[in-house]
Amino acid sequence: MEQNKNKCVLVSGGAGYIGSHTSVELIEAGYDVVIVDNLSNSDMGAVEGVRKITGREVPFVQVDCCDYEAFRKVFEEYEFDSVIHFAASKAVGESVQKPLEYYRNNLTSFMNVIRLMREFGRHNIVFSSSCTVYGEADKLPVTEQTPRKPATSPYGNTKQMCEDILRDSLAAYDGLRGIALRYFNPIGAHPSALIGELPRGVPQNLVPYITQTAAGVRECLSVFGDDYPTPDGSCIRDYIDVVDLARAHVTAIARMVEGRSKADYEIFNIGTGRGVSVLELVHRFEQANGVKLNYRIVGRRAGDIVAIWADPSYANTELGWKAERSLDDTLRSAWAWEKHLRGMA
Ligand code: NAD
Ligand code: WQD
Repeated sequence: MEQNKNKCVLVSGGAGYIGSHTSVELIEAGYDVVIVDNLSNSDMGAVEGVRKITGREVPFVQVDCCDYEAFRKVFEEYEFDSVIHFAASKAVGESVQKPLEYYRNNLTSFMNVIRLMREFGRHNIVFSSSCTVYGEADKLPVTEQTPRKPATSPYGNTKQMCEDILRDSLAAYDGLRGIALRYFNPIGAHPSALIGELPRGVPQNLVPYITQTAAGVRECLSVFGDDYPTPDGSCIRDYIDVVDLARAHVTAIARMVEGRSKADYEIFNIGTGRGVSVLELVHRFEQANGVKLNYRIVGRRAGDIVAIWADPSYANTELGWKAERSLDDTLRSAWAWEKHLRGMA
């Protein structure tokens, strides 16, 4: 298919939560997008949402990135020069139960992407990394230089291993450039409420649990612990709006396409720089949306870290990206999306 190679991006896992929002922002910034996804944790609704928001017939190929031959056909067919690799399994708890599935899916799909990029002479890759690589940091906020801690789950380990695979590949293979974006806690939804997070079964993450509780799907939110050494006793995170996060990918791609990278491999923290506690978030959600949340304090969740938030100054100055949406707007968008899903809007 004839396309401007520099302005075309392959989005693996583009039917997912962050991939669908990123596809929208890429298109709105003037890029062509090809979405691939095996729909293992998503459905065509997100692709339809992307098409509806952008008014574009975005190409979609249902393919498993672990299937080298099938994935290869996408490289044969489309002339993109950049890839954003979102495709991965992401449930921390499940990864402890099914480590081999996680190592296989997250590592094989990623190695296939790099292998195919080399084979077809494609140049730029963005990898979805995570603040999980920092573990319980000794010093807050964390910068990109903060040492990584040994992973506490197979999922976290796949993120560290993929970062290392990327670093080593970029050092070895000429012509490849890459950026790892370490996301903090992505939340919220597109302002259109046409795309958003789609948790399967009981949500493991805080905001989907909050919105489902507000919608009456869950009876009561459990706040995991109020006896941590934090001002109100609950854990602290850096909640980053998903549209802001999506925009970070656009700036990362532009940086590589326009030849502004300072090294073949770069890492950026993508967060707000603001730590918010669980209880603060619950109350902000109630105030921003004018709803009452049923919640109770329960014991700590095993494996939770006490507090983490980003120092995003390197992304701010070097990437030219900054989180912009207010927490209230983000929490309103999360609630609007939940109401859309439940037919309550
Ligand atoms: P998601 O599950 O909504 O999206 C991932 C998409 O990849 C899904 O649509 C899934 O069907 C697809 N996929 C999985 N394995 C695949 C394969 N082998 N081939 C093709 N498609 C495949 O998750 P998300 O929240 O959008 O996360 C996207 C990426 O960001 C993941 O790599 C995740 O680890 C990373 N990340 C997410 C968070 C978070 O809290 N959501 C935080 C840090 C990093
Ligand atoms: C946030 C806070 C919970 C649910 C996970 C992954 C991490 C990254 C982001 C991918 C914690 C508390 C939660 C609930 C609660 N993903 N909570 N009641 O644990 O920071 O990070 O997602 O890379 O790797 O581990 O996010 O949303 O699960 O929890 O009190 O029902 O909310 O204890 O303090 P977390 P989360």
